[in-house]
Amino acid sequence: MTRSGDRAALNGWQVIGRIEDIPPGRTRSTRLLGQDIIARRDPGGTVSVTEADNGNRSLPVQERYGHVWTSLGTPERDLLDMPEFAEEGRRLITCGGITVRTSPLRIVENFLDLAHFPYVHTDILGAEPQTGVEDYKVEVRQPEDEIWATECRFFQPQAAKSASGGQISDYMYRVTSPFVTILYKTCPIRDGMWDLIGLFVQPMDEEICDVHSFVLVFDEANSDEAMLHFQQMIFLQDRSILENQLPARLPLNPRDECAITADRTSLVYRRWLRDKGLSFGAIP
Ligand SMILES: [Fe+2]
Repeated sequence: MTRSGDRAALNGWQVIGRIEDIPPGRTRSTRLLGQDIIARRDPGGTVSVTEADNGNRSLPVQERYGHVWTSLGTPERDLLDMPEFAEEGRRLITCGGITVRTSPLRIVENFLDLAHFPYVHTDILGAEPQTGVEDYKVEVRQPEDEIWATECRFFQPQAAKSASGGQISDYMYRVTSPFVTILYKTCPIRDGMWDLIGLFVQPMDEEICDVHSFVLVFDEANSDEAMLHFQQMIFLQDRSILENQLPARLPLNPRDECAITADRTSLVYRRWLRDKGLSFGAIP
């Protein structure tokens, strides 16, 4: 990518793997925003990240939410805040990176789309004939500069691994950076609590990324493995759709919006990216 443009991508914190993907004494070579990088954890447990060329320049690094994060630029803001990670009784399942051959922005946009459930995740997250999306609210919240879609409701035959039958699920979607999105979903076994499902997308190149997902849930019945398999099954259904979407890069020109059947959250996401001048993975 060009060094001049795209401050929004360069100066953000980007995920580069799970904490356990970089064990002590080991090295992990990967790619971020078109740049080869190397992450190492010394035997004492400290992680360092450098660019593979460019004189092995050191990059900032932090470990949070089960993952390792770095930045090719100078982060202007801290990582997103998820206080739920400190709540007692929740279980964190990190799913590991899954490589998808499309723009990282397509991954986030697809995740925000309620309308695809009955068609892509048939009889799990949605079912015909209950295909209608009820009205919901979308806003860009300031000063945190995050997109929130709230009051989303959808009928789901099996909303989560812990669900024992169909239910109306309440949802909230949150986008905290161009490549990070979190879904808050009615917890099937605890009234008034939300389960979290999140995607930390690692933008490798403009049309390829690793998607690192997690669930942070109340669930006393299912094993980590069962929850992992449930998430992976859902995501692999998305992957085959995503890899066939053309163009792979996300069009940000407002004129293209008439031509696509995007929902409101998607339109707000595209506008928000455009306002940031984001171009990595986009058709500006
Ligand atoms: Fe999906």
